[in-house]
Amino acid sequence: MGPASRMILVAEAATPEETRVASEYFASLKPRRWIRVVETGTAPVTRPAGWMLVDESAGATEPIGERVIEISEDFEQSELRNPTSGFVAYVPRGSLKSGEMLVRTVGHGRIMACVMCHGQNLKGQYMKGMGDVPPIAGRSPSQMARQLIDFRSGARQGKNSAQMRGLASKLSNKDIVAITGYLASLNP
Ligand code: HEC
Repeated sequence: MGPASRMILVAEAATPEETRVASEYFASLKPRRWIRVVETGTAPVTRPAGWMLVDESAGATEPIGERVIEISEDFEQSELRNPTSGFVAYVPRGSLKSGEMLVRTVGHGRIMACVMCHGQNLKGQYMKGMGDVPPIAGRSPSQMARQLIDFRSGARQGKNSAQMRGLASKLSNKDIVAITGYLASLNP
């Protein structure tokens, strides 16, 4: 069972009161930087293990291509769920600049700039008629890419996701790599 299905089971089992208390707790936490982004032509050789990529390269690298390679800074600490041991994301060279352009440039025609809804600092905001637009700055690029791909394929749908569906359908995989690399490089 994938992470999303597990999460749905947990969420469905929670009472409204439990959901409220959990929301208050999460809202009280101060976001802090978790991802270190590195632009590069090559990345460590990795393999999937559980729900993560694991670096088993012993120093060996391979061309990064059109991928974001996100691995823990210290695998053992991540396995122990140490809340102070973060992740590193290798992204193709040039991602940060083209990601910034796609995210911020208003009126370049192809897509609506993300800052129009997610806010200038991309930390989310409340918008009349749309509700809460979530924060996307400083978050896991793999997680953000998964959401964009799910909007694009229609796997993620809900009453608030209509806006995102139209937008994501115009994004190529290369755009998603650049966008999520840039977003991960920002302060949450
Ligand atoms: C017209 C307003 C609008 C624009 C423009 C927009 N978004 Fe969104 N975005 C939303 C809303 C509303 C949601 C919440 C959708 C939901 O609840 O399912 C969302 C959700 C997301 C999510 C999922 C976040 C999460 O916590 O799961 C990502 C990732 C995202 N947007 C990225 C982007 C990117 C990248 C762009 C620019 C290419 C963009 N958005 C432009 C309104 C917008």
